[in-house]
Amino acid sequence: MKNQTTAVSYRDRLKLLTGAAGLAMFSACGGGSSSSTPPPSGGTPPPPPVPPTPPPTTETPVDGLLRDTFRNNFVVGAAVGPAQIGSTDDSDVLAKQFSSLTAENVMKPEALAPTEGNYTFEEADALVSFAQTNGLQVRGHTLLWHRATPAYFFEGTRDEIKARLQKYITDVVTHFRGKIYAWDVVNEVISDDDGSTAPYRDSNWFQAAGGPDYIDWAFEAARAADPDVKLFINDYNTELAGKRARLVSVVEDLIARGIPLDGVGHQAHIQQSTSAADVLAGLDAFTNMFAGLENHITELDISIYSDPVECFNGGTNCQASVGNTLPEARAREQATKYRALFDGFVTRSNLTSVTLWGLKDSDSWLNAFPVNRPNYPLLYDADLNTKRAFLAITDPSYVI
Ligand code: G3I
Repeated sequence: MKNQTTAVSYRDRLKLLTGAAGLAMFSACGGGSSSSTPPPSGGTPPPPPVPPTPPPTTETPVDGLLRDTFRNNFVVGAAVGPAQIGSTDDSDVLAKQFSSLTAENVMKPEALAPTEGNYTFEEADALVSFAQTNGLQVRGHTLLWHRATPAYFFEGTRDEIKARLQKYITDVVTHFRGKIYAWDVVNEVISDDDGSTAPYRDSNWFQAAGGPDYIDWAFEAARAADPDVKLFINDYNTELAGKRARLVSVVEDLIARGIPLDGVGHQAHIQQSTSAADVLAGLDAFTNMFAGLENHITELDISIYSDPVECFNGGTNCQASVGNTLPEARAREQATKYRALFDGFVTRSNLTSVTLWGLKDSDSWLNAFPVNRPNYPLLYDADLNTKRAFLAITDPSYVI
């Protein structure tokens, strides 16, 4: 699908677009009056020039355009699983456009150790092997989460729980040592409660450990198993001031106590109503916290809906489905948001990885959350055509 003919066609289109953008600005500035043919005096003025028709967004861009656009800034990743790795079309796009992969599910505890001590690394190993064969790096997700974790992890005394967790992390990090550049060591350990004084989520892990010590246990085991891999704390809603403040306080505490931490993962599951400035403020809150700290955008997607909080809390009052086709106006709004984000991302020097939570719209978890409803949150449509959002971030002259 990425033959020479397609590449030339794409480049030609960029040239046309640059011209179109210039034309639009020229006419907005009243440049038409410099025409060598004077307008007729009196009578009906000539009709204004018809703006150029936006190009179709279905062409396949040149190989490497996405990855190479940001090669001096950060790696660009996608969350994937066996379905994408096993699909010729999907894997072709992954290999040619991306520089990083995250396992959407197959490196979670329930996938790697469904029963205690019995590891099922096959699907994760296949993903790593695909990445290595094609020159992509791999982000590890996730060593500890309150979801996707078998019940046996929480059985027994506090000491038994600690020993089991540390053995699991030691075994998994050792298995992938040298093949993964960063691990989400702990995922979503921060409370969503703005009224709470404690920053920690009251989760199964918090309960089992009788407090937040399990976070230390996880980081210490991960560091002991691999001195080189980057260790991250990962969470969502860092674009919201309250959640962000709680995460800042936990990171400050971990640093102050010498817990081995290299970076903060910002999931960035946002929606159309989210302000790009707030997402960037989430990154900036951690910049300069200590020398060498990195930020990663770990799970980026932009829901085309702008739902109120009740929708996320109980599936009520959610915006109506747009149906089985992404409306043009929504595609343009979304592309504008993606561009605003990436324009900010490239100016953040400690942002070293940006991952989309999925390859194509039809794969996205957002088709079933917060309610069943078609969503279109990614850079590729269901047929692997690039969307306006892709062009908006890879070509500054693209007229959205
Ligand atoms: O693979 C089984 C399949 O065999 C079974 O028939 C089917 C029946 O429900 O379930 C399938 O597993 C599902 C899996 O996705 C693969 O599709 C699980 O039920 C489902 O819970 C799981 O959801 C994942 C979710 O995490 C929970 O692990 C989503 O795909 C994944 O996108 C989502 O990712 C999370 C991040 O890890 C953390 N941040 C939030 C993000 C979105 O929720």
